[in-house]
Amino acid sequence: MDITDRSVVKLPPEGLFDDPRQLGFGKVFSPNMFLMDYDEQRGWHDPRIVPFGPLQLSPSAMVFHYGQEIFEGLKAFRHADGSVHIFRPDRNAARFNRSARRMSMPEIPEAIQIEAMRALVDVDRDWVPPCPKPPRPCPTALYIRPTMIATQESLGVSPSNKYLYFIITGPVGPYFRPREEHLVAEAGDEKQCRPRLTPDDTLRILIARDWVRAAPGGTGAAKTGGNYAASLLARKVARDHNCAEVLWLDAVERRHVEEVGAMNIMFVLDGVVTTPPASGTILEGVTRESLGVLCKEMNIPFVQRAIHIEEILQGLQSGDCTEIFGCGTAAVVAPVRELVDLLPDGSERVYKVGDGTPGPIAKKLYEALTGVQFGFDPDTHRWLVRA
Ligand code: PLP
Ligand code: COI
Repeated sequence: MDITDRSVVKLPPEGLFDDPRQLGFGKVFSPNMFLMDYDEQRGWHDPRIVPFGPLQLSPSAMVFHYGQEIFEGLKAFRHADGSVHIFRPDRNAARFNRSARRMSMPEIPEAIQIEAMRALVDVDRDWVPPCPKPPRPCPTALYIRPTMIATQESLGVSPSNKYLYFIITGPVGPYFRPREEHLVAEAGDEKQCRPRLTPDDTLRILIARDWVRAAPGGTGAAKTGGNYAASLLARKVARDHNCAEVLWLDAVERRHVEEVGAMNIMFVLDGVVTTPPASGTILEGVTRESLGVLCKEMNIPFVQRAIHIEEILQGLQSGDCTEIFGCGTAAVVAPVRELVDLLPDGSERVYKVGDGTPGPIAKKLYEALTGVQFGFDPDTHRWLVRA
């Protein structure tokens, strides 16, 4: 692909990476973006890197009316030697095309998506935060957000005949903002500079009994904006109950656990890491898949099967369910400390998960995954693509 490069060089403001908490998630953007157009005559054409800035679109562009839009989320990590690596971009590129098929949008060859990401990360490589190091071993990365929108100017309900593909990036800190204590390393050797989960990283989660995220035959397995728009009301109720996110149940029986917020969910049941199967209503997470591989490697039993919410609530009371954690690119591994169920009278029934601190399996998986991502451990599966 012949990418036209009209990028600008801008260095990050002094001190931007000093305190990862200030970075937040998705608030700071790198100075350049990748754009590429599609129409029926020319297919995908005019790949270019240009300064980050507003897009000019007609108010009649179909994306604004019928939500024909898909996106991805992945990260690039800086290693201690300064090199920059994108984590499993092939898996995100493949999922982007699955989302495109579901939303009647044109696919983009995986190799072109990966080339575009690498080229963009390359021009903005100064915006990839440093490898975790003392005294603040906080995991930071460059978040990469590929997106496709329908740009045909028409109000007819049909697939658009024109699209824009764009990629923006930006340095990010933790998705769920921990308190200060998390960021101070225990003094010591290089090993102790690995980011670690602490009690500050645990979440309180509300069981969503009144809303569903995805129904069989719907778009739950596609990464499309409408799924997220539809989730916001439940999230607001969760926030009103001092919960970070909701636990989604299946749309038909309202019994089977599906996801947690914008993350896949895992339970440790009788020592087995258990996660719902990818049956069409959940997003097939790259983190979920990677943790499955790491479990096998570390001889931790891992199964995919339907999980009844009652099984979990009973397991929390009996002690059979020892850990619950969400997993995803943005949040990495996010342990749950409490599940909250709203009773018909509006009161809360709270189920504690273990002792409320990150469990041993969540910690192990978090350290194994970030160990590969930051280059502390060998990349035996070739998950990293150098930018
Ligand atoms: N589920 C939903 C709804 C998500 O938005 C995400 C984030 O992308 C995930 C799960 C986790 O997927 P991944 O691990 O590929 O980031
Ligand atoms: C991710 O984990 O990358 C996500 O996309 C979740 C959210 C920020 C939409």
